[in-house]
Amino acid sequence: MGLVFCLWRLTLLSLAAILFSPKYCTSQKDDGRKYPFMQNAASAPSVSYYDYIIIGGGTAGCPLAATLSQSHTVLVLERGGSPYGNPNITNLNAFGVPLADTSPFSPAQRFISQDGVVNSRARVLGGGSCLNAGFYTRASPHYVREVGWDGKLVNESYKWVERVVVFQPPMRQWQSAVRDALLEVGVSPYNGFTYDHVYGTKIGGSIFDQNGHRHTAADLLEYANANTITLLLHAIVHRILFTTNKGGSRSRPVAHGVVFKDDHGREHRAYLNQGTSNEIIVSAGALGSPQLLMLSGIGAAHHLREHNINVVLDQPLVGQGMSDNPMNAIFVPSPQPVEVSLIQVVGITNFGSYIEAASGENFNGGSQRDFGMFSPKIGQFSKLPPKQRTPEAIAKAIERMESLDQEAFKGGFILEKIMGPISTGHLELQNTDPNENPIVTFNYFQDPRDLEMCIHGISTIERVINSKAFSPFKYNNMSASMLLNMTANSPVNLLPKHTNTGRSLAQFCRDTVMTIWHYHGGCQVGRVVDSDYKVLGIDALRVIDGSTFNYSPGTNPQATVMMLGRYMGVKILRERLVADETK
Ligand SMILES: Cc1cc2nc3c(=O)[nH]c(=O)nc-3n(C[C@H](O)[C@H](O)[C@H](O)COP(=O)(O)OP(=O)(O)OC[C@H]3O[C@@H](n4cnc5c(N)ncnc54)[C@H](O)[C@@H]3O)c2cc1C
Ligand SMILES: *[C@@H]1O[C@H](CO)[C@@H](O)[C@H](O)[C@H]1NC(C)=O
Ligand SMILES: *[C@@H]1O[C@H](CO)[C@@H](O)[C@H](O)[C@H]1NC(C)=O
Ligand SMILES: *[C@@H]1O[C@H](CO)[C@@H](O)[C@H](O)[C@H]1NC(C)=O
Ligand SMILES: *[C@@H]1O[C@H](CO)[C@@H](O)[C@H](O)[C@H]1NC(C)=O
Repeated sequence: MGLVFCLWRLTLLSLAAILFSPKYCTSQKDDGRKYPFMQNAASAPSVSYYDYIIIGGGTAGCPLAATLSQSHTVLVLERGGSPYGNPNITNLNAFGVPLADTSPFSPAQRFISQDGVVNSRARVLGGGSCLNAGFYTRASPHYVREVGWDGKLVNESYKWVERVVVFQPPMRQWQSAVRDALLEVGVSPYNGFTYDHVYGTKIGGSIFDQNGHRHTAADLLEYANANTITLLLHAIVHRILFTTNKGGSRSRPVAHGVVFKDDHGREHRAYLNQGTSNEIIVSAGALGSPQLLMLSGIGAAHHLREHNINVVLDQPLVGQGMSDNPMNAIFVPSPQPVEVSLIQVVGITNFGSYIEAASGENFNGGSQRDFGMFSPKIGQFSKLPPKQRTPEAIAKAIERMESLDQEAFKGGFILEKIMGPISTGHLELQNTDPNENPIVTFNYFQDPRDLEMCIHGISTIERVINSKAFSPFKYNNMSASMLLNMTANSPVNLLPKHTNTGRSLAQFCRDTVMTIWHYHGGCQVGRVVDSDYKVLGIDALRVIDGSTFNYSPGTNPQATVMMLGRYMGVKILRERLVADETK
């Protein structure tokens, strides 16, 4: 479609214009021109005013902005570019291309936690929904009750999201075999195709449509009021500005503006319009939100002073409660070809482990064969324990992968992630540059209950592999030791070796831990924000995104992150209506 568009443009342009702007088609694509209200921050005025300023046009920020724009002026500041017209983002087969690109222009920004696990965060309009594996599944009613959300509005908000961006995935032979195998080993009942979080085996939704085309949180901006919303791309927020409420002894800091820079490095300021209900909302994600609060002076005072940051509020809980659900996976070589698929089937066990699967050799947009979701090119590397995954070791694994025979890629990964998790870590600033990653520690498996869930999960996967239903997709005539040898010789995965070979499942869990990119926390409800997502101790400032979670919702979080954006948008508008009426 992009090409057709470009060719059509070319017929309208003189040859001179083509010669003088060779990147014309590319920049058209980059800007996407999807929405009339979307523009590069470089073209923004140096000072402007809005009712709401949303920092981060990600998975939560987009639905939130679309909702608030129904009756108020809204500015969205997103540090990345547009996902529209970028096949690296929109095609299922290109999953991994942005994650493998470590340049500063990539829609993915790589980070490595102190644990040693390579990870990735979004830098693009639509946020993580532009990079993820697409699996869409709601939180359980139990989770909704525990958090204290209004269940009716939650369901309405999920539906609002689902109408635009969620599809039923096609079920082909390999995913079907995993489904049948899960049922055979007792992960039952079968719940069919459903978004609901219920025990047993089910097929979930996907933000990839039947043609493998990705739909993202940015598509939820179709709901926005084009007359009241302003969306700036390549706008990186450096800090939030505060004044003080003149409330006598009860004076509190009030957020009233932000400082951001465009891609020419020029500084701009945006302020809230006068009016007591206007607010700044941080939706910069689990790394970005706590980082930005700290850069703005909200954090542990001693830590902020180390970086010469003026302390607005001494709040040691900012950056605490960081968690990443550990993921462990087994690669199963198949005698017959398997379809390319990301996550479609999930087994929801009653011991806190979720079994999912991804299959098929994945070209990752290039000519090289690749392990897709488990490729060392994107930093997934379970061959060595986390602390030994040096850049050199990963480079060597990529080299080995590229020299592998085609046969080696035939097969699929069966993974498990644990719920929660219970183990938590923390986040600190590395420096005061908002473009750089903060330092983050997740403490995978620090709590023994997390390890127990992993061990249970891996033994379930072993039973899945040995089931009758899965037998067409594994080499029956190969001995376990041969299979082990095969996987052990591929650059990524190991089959678990049991105690008879000196390695326990617990050790397997620790040594092969990877991320499923569901990291969350840092601005948790009850610690940094209240149950209305208002930052404790500060006026006119909220945080709404995955950084507020105490536990990851559902088997995978994106449904609930998008839902939360919509849900809070509606709640804020309702509260405001009441407040304005009582004035
Ligand atoms: C590779 C990958 C695979 C995944 N697979 C799945 C899956 O299959 N199913 C599922 O449910 N979940 C999946 N997830 C998780 C899910 O996508 C995330 O949990 C979710 O997107 C997080 O949303 P968020 O709004 O909290 O943050 P984000 O979506 O990351 O949004 C934050 C936004 O803020 C912007 N930002 C940050 N700092 C600043 C700043 N200073 N100024 C301006 N803008 C800023 C960022 O560029 C970003 O766009 C996956 C994630 C990844 C990365
Ligand atoms: C897609 O990714 C490749 C590899 O990182 C990069 O060279 C190319 O410019 C990207 N395309 C777009 C449209 O961003
Ligand atoms: C919300 O929907 C789920 C099914 O998706 C249902 O189980 C639950 O009862 C609903 N909650 C309310 C409050 O309607
Ligand atoms: C296993 O069976 C396949 C096909 O039936 C065959 O090609 C292969 O050589 C066999 N492998 C071994 C180790 O026997
Ligand atoms: C294991 O793999 C190595 C390297 O590919 C090979 O040399 C060896 O013969 C294999 N051993 C078995 C038992 O298959």
